[in-house]
Amino acid sequence: MVMILALLATAVATAMRAQGPVAQPTGPEQTVEVTAERFAFQPSEITVPVGTTLKVVLKSDDTTHGFRIKGEGVNVQIPKRGRGTITATFTPAKAGKYTFECSRICGAGHGFMRGTIVVVERGSEAK
Ligand code: CUA
Repeated sequence: MVMILALLATAVATAMRAQGPVAQPTGPEQTVEVTAERFAFQPSEITVPVGTTLKVVLKSDDTTHGFRIKGEGVNVQIPKRGRGTITATFTPAKAGKYTFECSRICGAGHGFMRGTIVVVERGSEAK
């Protein structure tokens, strides 16, 4: 089941990449490992330069969670603890702040599970 969902998520992501007015994935890649646990993401803030292909490798320390970047068509299900990881890929074309949140009901604090991807102009990330 998880496998099928993962495949589905990959297929959807691929389809969206094919259609959308998305930046070409010619920039550098950055991989960030994020752990989801009731009721927070760790880390909850990720900073990348614009145009970077951000790969968020997600795992859970307890139950199944979700990871959605609001308004960006990124939404994956994070398998429960011990069931491996899932990677969400996001290539921001514009600088700004992008909110991510848990997209699967996981308990009383579900609504508090959120974080921010801060996309900065290239060259300013050291500031
Ligand atoms: Cu974690 Cu909802």
